[in-house]
Amino acid sequence: MTLAELLPSIGCSTEPVLEEGLWPDGTRLDGSDLVIGGVPASRLAAQFGTPCQVLDETTVRTRAREFLKALPEAEVVFAGKSLPCPEVYRWMAAEGLSLDVSSAGELALARAADFPAARIVMHGNVKTGEDLKAALAYGVSRIVVDSFDEIAQLGALARHGQQVVVRVTPGVDAHTHAAIATGVEDQKFGFSLASGAALEAVLRVVEQPSLRLVGLHCHIGSQVRHVAAYEETVRRMVGLIAGCGVRIEQLDLGGGFCAPYLPGESSFDLAGFAHRVRVALNYECAVHRVPVPRVLVEPGRSVVANAGVTLYRVCAVKRGTTRTFVAVDGGMSDNPRPALYGAKYAVRLVGRGGRMAPVTVVGRHCEAGDVLASDVVLPADVHAGDLLAVPATGAYHHALASNYNQVGRPPVVAVHDGTARLVVRRETEEDLLRRYV
Ligand SMILES: Cc1ncc(COP(=O)(O)O)c(C=O)c1O
Repeated sequence: MTLAELLPSIGCSTEPVLEEGLWPDGTRLDGSDLVIGGVPASRLAAQFGTPCQVLDETTVRTRAREFLKALPEAEVVFAGKSLPCPEVYRWMAAEGLSLDVSSAGELALARAADFPAARIVMHGNVKTGEDLKAALAYGVSRIVVDSFDEIAQLGALARHGQQVVVRVTPGVDAHTHAAIATGVEDQKFGFSLASGAALEAVLRVVEQPSLRLVGLHCHIGSQVRHVAAYEETVRRMVGLIAGCGVRIEQLDLGGGFCAPYLPGESSFDLAGFAHRVRVALNYECAVHRVPVPRVLVEPGRSVVANAGVTLYRVCAVKRGTTRTFVAVDGGMSDNPRPALYGAKYAVRLVGRGGRMAPVTVVGRHCEAGDVLASDVVLPADVHAGDLLAVPATGAYHHALASNYNQVGRPPVVAVHDGTARLVVRRETEEDLLRRYV
């Protein structure tokens, strides 16, 4: 079956309609321009250049509030790795969320945002001595230990009473891409529950006079759609709490809540999650006769993904024998997710509708796999100079961006109520040259 058979809009003149759920809240069409956070995309591209990552502040804050509202009894911890940026961390602090960081570098951004140390959790399967020292120096409230080596190292570095959480691999399959499935056995994250390593880790932490065990942590993966995977995780983790014979005050269930990337995909069922996890936790704790721990959740993608839109300028169109390639001024350096996980995106041309045709949107980098979106439809007359907008690019884009081919990383522009301002500036040649000696 061809794409044209699957998508009847191909070959037809279409009225532009915005795909539901993919774009920042309040995004609208004004003629054929796209208005994000009250600012036309054409104006953003003219003012800040392309590629440009646009971030709608209201959407970020609204998603953060939705977590707090759905889970009033829980501590909601923003996964700082999903969008590392002091201004975004400030929004999270103001909304009352906590923050997780995975390195001294992410902690430096948190410090720049004056994020309260009492609400910071540090993660990472590898924390170097520098990471641990930076966490201790800032007084990060909890450090999630991930190996026996780290327990010993932290025990030696910490002063009395450093709060520690043990990362557990619960053996739960979250049915997501293998590269982002972190809850299953046989992998680098955490201590295996099934092998007994998790129990051993709990006992080792308790033996360290400078450490105070406060909780258990797990993170079963990212882009998880099924609440049932979290219920099963709760069941297993409470089993461990009951078996370890130590008072566990906190149960951190990690993040991973899915976000929609393509038309027709739904958002995470947050209300269903809150209800079912609460019921499962209370039930399991009652059965095992252990006190109910305070739950922590660590959403990243579900808070920021759909707040982001990336704008690209078309630089060349090649009409091949079987496909039309639309080449843009960005690519795998600002969005490596298609190459890493086969991630798929929707693409929209800003400024024109008309008869649609299937195209493959590719980047500017020296890899044949530098494909941003295959089998998408754009106006058949797409040409150099056109402006493209890609929704759902707020999470793990700025975070994963590289300098491949010595292309400077794009800016992040926050939009809010009709105003736009830089929160991360574009990387310049001077920035690139500064590192070379
Ligand atoms: C420990 C931990 N918590 C939270 C997250 C956030 O996941 P997501 O952005 O899918 O919600 C991650 C992502 O890798 C993680 O490793």
